[in-house]
Amino acid sequence: MALVGWGMSKAKNVVVIGTQWGDEGKGKLVDLLTEHVGCVVRFQGGHNAGHTLVIEGKKTVLHLIPSGILHEGVLSVIGNGVGVDPAALMREVDVLLEEGVDVFSRLRLSDQCPLILPTHVMLDQARERERGREAIGTTGRGIGPAYEDKIARRGLRLGDLLQPERFARELTALMMYHNFLLESYHHVDVVPVEAVLEPYLAYGKRLADSITDTQTLLCQQRESGTSILFEGAQGTLLDIDCGTYPFVTSSNTTAGAASTGTGFGPLYLDAVVGITKAYTTRVGSGPFPTELFDDVGAHLAKQGNEFGATTGRPRRCGWLDAVILKRSMALNSVSGLCLTKLDVLDGLEEVKICTSYVDQEGRPLSGAVSAQQLLHAQPVYETLPGWSESTFGVQDWDALPANAIAYVERIEALLGVPVQMLSTGPDRVETICRQPIF
Ligand code: GDP
Ligand code: IMO
Ligand code: MG
Repeated sequence: MALVGWGMSKAKNVVVIGTQWGDEGKGKLVDLLTEHVGCVVRFQGGHNAGHTLVIEGKKTVLHLIPSGILHEGVLSVIGNGVGVDPAALMREVDVLLEEGVDVFSRLRLSDQCPLILPTHVMLDQARERERGREAIGTTGRGIGPAYEDKIARRGLRLGDLLQPERFARELTALMMYHNFLLESYHHVDVVPVEAVLEPYLAYGKRLADSITDTQTLLCQQRESGTSILFEGAQGTLLDIDCGTYPFVTSSNTTAGAASTGTGFGPLYLDAVVGITKAYTTRVGSGPFPTELFDDVGAHLAKQGNEFGATTGRPRRCGWLDAVILKRSMALNSVSGLCLTKLDVLDGLEEVKICTSYVDQEGRPLSGAVSAQQLLHAQPVYETLPGWSESTFGVQDWDALPANAIAYVERIEALLGVPVQMLSTGPDRVETICRQPIF
């Protein structure tokens, strides 16, 4: 497919990240770009992610497995930064096997991945219930508690499944702690160790040949001249350190995590592609200055089919926020953008971009705006004319309506980063390439 121009003289290692609050269309782009690489790597998050690929009308939703998995001859790697729930992983593997995808020959898992246990899920859900109106709106997949155990240095890792005796001992100790919290603090049911030990050891047996030292594997891939694609999950504003804390996920979602979550040195990375939706969405709670509660918001939700790919929850929708994006460009050192879902704006009389904020008294908010300030920030908009023509499925930059081109060029000017690719529909081919990424 000649969608993406390329000159494969030198191997290139490219990071793909979400620049907003997730669901920007990372999965689609990673699948598309996989034709240029030998290896696709997830580096953070877990099965809280939902990445959608559409190929010739056929939809595949991936949560944990890298979005390169449908490509024959390409290694899909789950790096050490990814939290793995082996039950969720096996469910995903089985769906792909049923579809005839040769998963086991393509998939490698780091032995160092933090292991997600059923008690992590129970703790996540119990905490959310207790927060009541203050709930974060997590995906309830046990992500937060599992990363907590990793940071506290008491967590188990995927490789531990391969040493049954030690695993049984350490699982018992960890679950005793979890069950104490569940019973005595949260007043909910406990999980018997036996209910976890056997199935987890069985998952270990099934996955044994795929679990390996992926840091060394990636080093070897690099040395042999293979191009590698690093697939981010979630989005910049959900980063545990740089996002809208506490309404964030529990991993680093920014580009630096491509290095720490895989053991791949930062100087070996050649480009960071930021995936940006042509408007903004967010699932779960937390600040969202450009959120719309009017007909336009409803239009974006409907046209964009904005329902979570993991939990099915409706996504909150609003205008593009260039203040947040500008920060995102810096936090990730974005070298180029892919603007997705441009088609969703078709038919709007006008389109707006938030270029600054004021506080509730109308005073300008400048500098780094904290998550607390963002809660009350009022957007200041620049208004551009919309377009009535359909951009759905357009594959040629020159075939876009003049006002759509003006919108894209205004985004480039505001962010100081080129829009290298555009997505005009969910399918792999519904894409415009302006500048080659590989
Ligand atoms: P991810 O989490 O970043 O991989 O994104 P999701 O898969 O959660 O959400 C993106 C949604 O938009 C999916 O349903 C995609 O199929 C769809 N999508 C991706 N790009 C486009 C596009 O350009 N236009 C339209 N209409 N849908 C798109
Ligand atoms: P992809 O990779 C959008 C959100 C949840 C919640 C917060 C914390 O598909 O873009 P967690 O379960 O991670 O502790 O939830 O993060 N969240 C996402 N929102 N896309 C995602 O992933 C998300 N993964 C987590 O909705 O607000
Ligand atoms: Mg998603």
